Amino acid sequence: MKNKILYLSAAIAFVTFTSCKNESQTTNSDSDQKEYVGKEIGSEFDAEIDKLVSQMTLEEKIGMLHGNSMFTSGGVKRLGIPELKMADGPLGVREEISRDNWAPAGLTDDFATYYPAAGALAATFNQEMAYTFGNSVGQELRARDKDMLLSPAINIVRTPLGGRTYEYMTEDPFLNKKMAVPMVVGLQDNDVMACVKHFAANNQETNRDFVDVQIDERTLREIYLPAFEASVKEGKAYSIMGAYNKFRGEYLCENDYMLNKILRDEWGFKGVVVSDWAAVHSTVKSLKSGLDIEMGTPKPFNEFFLADKLIAAAKNKEISEAEIDIHVKRILRTLFQVKAMGGKERVKGSIATEAHYQDAYKIAAEAIVLLKNENNALPLQLEGVKSIAVIGNNATKKNALGGFGAGVKTKREVTPLDGLKNRLPKSIQINYAEGYLERYEEKNKGNLGNITSSGPVTIDKLEPAKVQEAIEAAKNSDIAIVFAGSNRDYETEASDRSDLHLPFGQEELIKKIVDVNPRTIVVIVAGAPFGIDAVSKKTNALVWTWFNGSEGGNALADVLLGKVNPSGKLPWTMPKKLMDSPAHATNSFPGDKAVNYAEGILVGYRWFDTKNIAPLYPFGFGLSYTTFAIENVKADKTEYALNETISVSVDVKNTGKADGKEVVQLYTSKSDSKVSRAAKELKGFKKVLVKSGNSNTVTIKVPVKELAYYDVTTKKWIVEPGKYTLKIGTSSRDIKKEVVVTIK
Ligand code: BGC
Repeated sequence: MKNKILYLSAAIAFVTFTSCKNESQTTNSDSDQKEYVGKEIGSEFDAEIDKLVSQMTLEEKIGMLHGNSMFTSGGVKRLGIPELKMADGPLGVREEISRDNWAPAGLTDDFATYYPAAGALAATFNQEMAYTFGNSVGQELRARDKDMLLSPAINIVRTPLGGRTYEYMTEDPFLNKKMAVPMVVGLQDNDVMACVKHFAANNQETNRDFVDVQIDERTLREIYLPAFEASVKEGKAYSIMGAYNKFRGEYLCENDYMLNKILRDEWGFKGVVVSDWAAVHSTVKSLKSGLDIEMGTPKPFNEFFLADKLIAAAKNKEISEAEIDIHVKRILRTLFQVKAMGGKERVKGSIATEAHYQDAYKIAAEAIVLLKNENNALPLQLEGVKSIAVIGNNATKKNALGGFGAGVKTKREVTPLDGLKNRLPKSIQINYAEGYLERYEEKNKGNLGNITSSGPVTIDKLEPAKVQEAIEAAKNSDIAIVFAGSNRDYETEASDRSDLHLPFGQEELIKKIVDVNPRTIVVIVAGAPFGIDAVSKKTNALVWTWFNGSEGGNALADVLLGKVNPSGKLPWTMPKKLMDSPAHATNSFPGDKAVNYAEGILVGYRWFDTKNIAPLYPFGFGLSYTTFAIENVKADKTEYALNETISVSVDVKNTGKADGKEVVQLYTSKSDSKVSRAAKELKGFKKVLVKSGNSNTVTIKVPVKELAYYDVTTKKWIVEPGKYTLKIGTSSRDIKKEVVVTIK
């Protein structure tokens, strides 16, 4: 127990460590729940902007509406208007790319912090981590002198096979918005723009360049849009990226319904809409449909749809100059807003600092999910242990680079093996064996630049010599840890995986290792669900980690050794088999020219719970080295009016021997609804640190309007009166208490 007690102060020390935070826009609505609200784009520069525009030629205006390099749109030097400078993305600020092609520019001062992937961030179920992430990466963006980060990526995880699942957060719209907003606010606190992507309904890579997504209106509103809507209305995101695919017959970068009607007219978006790279297909139509800036891949920049063709269209009076001015003014307003113009002092930022690595550590440590832990296999008890076998290519595999736009060039990527070396006493010998090889069929490599409709094809045959070496290492060590899973060559933009299987013969390898060493721990490194039913049955201890950032290996070692008590929760459902998942059970993935989201609102756990299908590991699930009791669940009233907020208090008692964090989750259901509803919907959550033996009270607030469904006839959100059941638990399948309330 001693090492567990020691961990406590270390973990708390990390919890209180924060990096340089700029003017915070968080307000404490009560001691329990923070609200994250962004700053609206101001109008104080409008007169100056009008004056600037009045001095610009048509060509200068149009120069601002398209890429003039791979990651900038044009400025007007003579008027002091700078280029708008962008950078990817979701794992940190991407290395500098050449101005006119995808090759790295080869700079030596563009090393950045590699932050945990968005799936990991969501697994923390901790809004403070999302703010920290945004604020920290925003600092790095400024240090690189950029204006816009092409992040966060918040498309809903519809299929477990999605190539970009690791870049996205979750299958749940509520968790999605609650994490997206603080991320946007944290980022924009640094005088930069978030570019929230990919708007919207871009939930597969297969055929993404043309597939026409069909979603019924209620599902669109309730599942696919809420995080975008909250990013705009609450986070005040300054830019949005239009997606590649079509939605209801129109490309998303020329989709009047999405860009004009919903984004601007309904949500009041004041920022700029940027296209995904080479996602534009028309000139006047795109502009009229709400696009502001066209970005793209190598070809002469004047050949872009919003370049020479737009000049010609304006000259032919197909579009008026006044209309062009609207877009130019939007861009100028955002440039003033982030102080790229206007002469105000701007955040200078800092990059790859120890403080930022520690931000990455904090997120990584809270993201790791303990899936199974029998016979107290974890944390590792080191008494009498002389050697540990570390097995698997993933023990040394690096994941910062690769995978198209989400890669980061970094000087620090602590691998799992490095982490163990850093954290284990020197007296313990580490016996490393690669075990399996990362191999692909050459013609189907599916990786970088080679866009395939189904992902890379792996070679799953084990090499006998490698297996033998791993078996020997396991036999000759007191403990074996197998690092399996995926990597960012296998999970990548531009393709989806073709199935759920663990690649490279890992399942067979794991079985062989467990057979020779019963003290085997399995760690899965991956960004998306995998078929791990057999592995889970075979092993006593199963840990899930992610593409977990610069400090991922240290965080993982700290979890394995009990210095950090795991508190991550799955942000999506781990199915037993692919066909249990809604998009596959309804045979509506990936479609061909079109894809119809036949499961409707029943995405993720909503499907599993409503259809009574047992997942392997449910949404919201994750164990701890301690145990918790959920007690005294109380709503503050029994009846609520439409404009009120339900306040539920819960005592979380730590009934085990280690301090730890638990995520209290509140789901709602309505049985006698006049519309079909999911059996359960997440409507609140709160992560809390409770010391061993203590009990902490947490309050979860649910505004009654969160209970609404989208009514397609009236086009309004409607809260049905009547009884609702609030289900409080520690995962979507582990509900501890139910409370019934009435809405008047
Ligand atoms: C991706 C975007 C990314 C852009 C620029 C596109 O292929 O879909 O997410 O920001 O490339 O790298």
